[in-house]
Amino acid sequence: MGLRLLYQPGQTPLDEEECEGLKIKTITTQRELNEFEQHNLEHALIWLKRQRLTPEKILTESFILQLHLKMYGEVWKWAGKYRNSEKNLGIPHHLIPIELRKLLDDFRYWMTHHTFTPDEMALRFKHRLVSIHCFSNGNGRHSRLMADIIIERIFGLPSFTWGHSHSHLSADNTARTQYLQALKRADQLDYTALLAFARS
Ligand SMILES: Nc1ncnc2c1ncn2[C@@H]1O[C@H](COP(=O)(O)OP(=O)(O)OP(=O)(O)O)[C@@H](O)[C@H]1O
Ligand SMILES: [Mg+2]
Repeated sequence: MGLRLLYQPGQTPLDEEECEGLKIKTITTQRELNEFEQHNLEHALIWLKRQRLTPEKILTESFILQLHLKMYGEVWKWAGKYRNSEKNLGIPHHLIPIELRKLLDDFRYWMTHHTFTPDEMALRFKHRLVSIHCFSNGNGRHSRLMADIIIERIFGLPSFTWGHSHSHLSADNTARTQYLQALKRADQLDYTALLAFARS
């Protein structure tokens, strides 16, 4: 029996080959998948707590890939690997490594020159990361966790509250609607809604 997935608004559907990357063959429903992914995510958070992270370590391609692998590697074979197909969101896949390097360079420049507040730097990073859409799936959760890592471990500030929904942002609810609206405003380079939402 194949995998029957339900997609929320703003989700990126998986193609057939990506579905075949499911490591746990007993999973057939979206609910089961969510549970396994959530469990994997909790392991990633435990792993993360034990890491000694410096800005030099965090702001690398290899850390960004490693984090995705830790978040989804128990569930998906393609965890921690760049996508190799096009999605409704994101840039052409062959440009991912180049754009990610540009983003990391820009972020270092912002830090050196105090271009924005720490919250704005972390959230601009998050928005550009999810807009590149490095992976076949899990980009939203991965980009939110990256923003939390940046704000806590680089700037020493409290992690974001994300409308007090955190992982529940993956469900279809008011917080998700607000979150998606804020991302769309950020697509137009207006970050005010995302800045407010992330601390709400
Ligand atoms: N217009 C947009 N601009 C930027 N990012 C967007 C936009 N629409 C959706 N997104 C992001 O893309 C994510 C969906 O990508 P993907 O399915 O890979 O992530 P996910 O982690 O599985 O989902 P989720 O974040 O919903 O839990 C959304 O959650 C959101 O973070
Ligand atoms: Mg998804």
